[in-house]
Amino acid sequence: MSDFKRYTVTTALPYANGPVHIGHLAGVYVPADIYVRFLRKTGYDVLFIGGSDEHGVPITLKARQRGVSPQDVVDEYHGIIRDSFIDFGISFDIYSRTSLPLHHETAAAFFKKLHASGKLVEKETEQYYDEEAKQYLADRYITGTCPHCGYEKAYGDQCEKCGTSLSPMELIDPKSTLSGAAPIKKKTSHWYLPLDEYEPWLRQWILEGHKEWKSNVYGQCKSWIDQGLHPRAVTRDLNWGVKVPLPDSEDKVLYVWFDAPIGYISAARDWAQQTGKDWEPYWKDKESRLIHFIGKDNIVFHCIIFPAMLKAEGDYILPDNVPANEFLNLEGDKISTSRNWAVWLHEYLQEFPDQQDVLRYVLTANAPETKDNDFTWKDFQARNNNELVAILGNFIHRTLVLTHKYFEGVVPESTAADEKDEIYKSLAELKEKMEYSLHHFRFREALATYMDMARVGNKYLTDKEPWKLFKDNPEAVQGILHNALQIAAKLAVWGEVFLPFFSEKLSKMLNMEPVEWNAALNDILQPGHKIEPAEIIFNKIEDSAIEVQLAKLEKSKEENAAAEQTFEPIKDEITFDQFSALDLRVGQILEAEKVAKTKKLMKLLVDMGFEKRTIVSGVAEFFTPEDLIGKKVTVVANLGKRMLKGIESNGMILFAENPDGTLKLLAAADEAVNGGKVC
Ligand code: MF3
Ligand code: ZN
Repeated sequence: MSDFKRYTVTTALPYANGPVHIGHLAGVYVPADIYVRFLRKTGYDVLFIGGSDEHGVPITLKARQRGVSPQDVVDEYHGIIRDSFIDFGISFDIYSRTSLPLHHETAAAFFKKLHASGKLVEKETEQYYDEEAKQYLADRYITGTCPHCGYEKAYGDQCEKCGTSLSPMELIDPKSTLSGAAPIKKKTSHWYLPLDEYEPWLRQWILEGHKEWKSNVYGQCKSWIDQGLHPRAVTRDLNWGVKVPLPDSEDKVLYVWFDAPIGYISAARDWAQQTGKDWEPYWKDKESRLIHFIGKDNIVFHCIIFPAMLKAEGDYILPDNVPANEFLNLEGDKISTSRNWAVWLHEYLQEFPDQQDVLRYVLTANAPETKDNDFTWKDFQARNNNELVAILGNFIHRTLVLTHKYFEGVVPESTAADEKDEIYKSLAELKEKMEYSLHHFRFREALATYMDMARVGNKYLTDKEPWKLFKDNPEAVQGILHNALQIAAKLAVWGEVFLPFFSEKLSKMLNMEPVEWNAALNDILQPGHKIEPAEIIFNKIEDSAIEVQLAKLEKSKEENAAAEQTFEPIKDEITFDQFSALDLRVGQILEAEKVAKTKKLMKLLVDMGFEKRTIVSGVAEFFTPEDLIGKKVTVVANLGKRMLKGIESNGMILFAENPDGTLKLLAAADEAVNGGKVC
């Protein structure tokens, strides 16, 4: 293997139409940042690329809803997103954006080269066109009736009711959301990347050449390739995006998934312009390794389509690895921007100021590396309190406090060299294991190994109990604290990749100069070195703070439920006589018990004033007997008797049914007399 030293590491460019949340951080940006920090610390030359994806139809939709321009929308969110990443210590060399002229030039030149070398195919198709608005309609701009479930507000690309993917031509009774008019079909021509022609090459390159890719990534690629690849349109009829650089194409732009990954190249150029450095080796030198960090929904674009584009272009290197993650859920439900089911990064920092590393830690420890995972606030609290506070923080704090207490903050002499050798040996083994995990994109495992190093320190102190020894044997305490301080310093050096804020604070407290990764195997702090006062780095998170977060989510849930309510249509009209035929009475529930071996049924004894009746009701899923006993209710008194599970039910009790199907009491006032008429 050649002695490569250069890495280009990219992170998926988030759409600039909303802020970023914990799912983004866990899936892409924290693992990428850990990886990059590790590479840099171990001597690699890395260009770490991020940026905002500022094109695409959803951004134009948001702009229309708000009555502003798409540029206004992306300007707002680009700033918010960039600040969140900076706040969380994501150490990009460049955070660029795709609305930059530099990107437009780069993407247009890329397209032009493919076009000029005959790598694109032009095809004519029919598309929906709005004659009033005088434009072609993107799928999202068309609504109509879903052919599968009859939902009347299905979009041209998907029915949100039944979840089926659609094409606009399948919609019954399509309407343009721009004018409300029925669109007409009109011919249009677009440029296609003939992916089918790349199939043999992709098969070879991925399925033979990259068996080391993560199994979730490899598996998705295989399934795509096995299903057969088809030409993909790389242009759209839209007026927001990179203009197609050909004559007679004024109203066409590059498809957002064509221009966005080229944004990685533009970002490198942006970086070069800003720093005066050369970007080309990072994209063109065969000795450079290209790594894409993404979420699983982006796999096909980064493993199949973008590589085919790069291959067609010819000048650029191909990805060496694409360590895509699965999804992070939140309290058991899919994270959703539109349903406000998320933990937003900017809000987290308002509520947990200065606690970036706690979130970085929890998201790494629970990263969705091989399967979808769940973020819960209870787990967040537990990991903070039981791991960061109780192990890492506790060890550091005890070490520093004792050093101040016994030695006035001066690193003592080494008097326990045998113990030190043993500790160094186990730390060196753990370090090696951690490096292996980091090189293989197993960040959870790497972090767990790092915590094992902290455990080594914590256990050492707990076993030695220097606080009990000082009176009789201060020399032994010198050696113990000397060793503990070395462990703390090593944790500062090696912890930087996961917990940069912690590492910085600890380095300051230890008064350390920067130490290289491997040099940290040796002694770091010399006897006589003075350290700073001990400050607590990780604080316990109280139940009350967690309850606030859970209440916030509960509120989102209620708001969503309210927004999603659909009411049943009103039934056909009846006459007054039909109404009068019903005999409704006030009754009071005297006894209630669940009917054995049924899920829903409850046997109730009801005082009707003139008599007591047994009524069986299908309400056991919604009420306990205690909820019902004593309650005054409305009874349909002249409904024919029915046998239910061997019990004769004489009448029916009325309940209110919410749109979600749950039942609520429909009670009469206490003053209402049992047996009285309801009219
Ligand atoms: N904006 C896309 C998303 O959020 C990701 C684009 S990644 C890039 O799913 F490669 F296209 F840049
Ligand atoms: Zn449907």
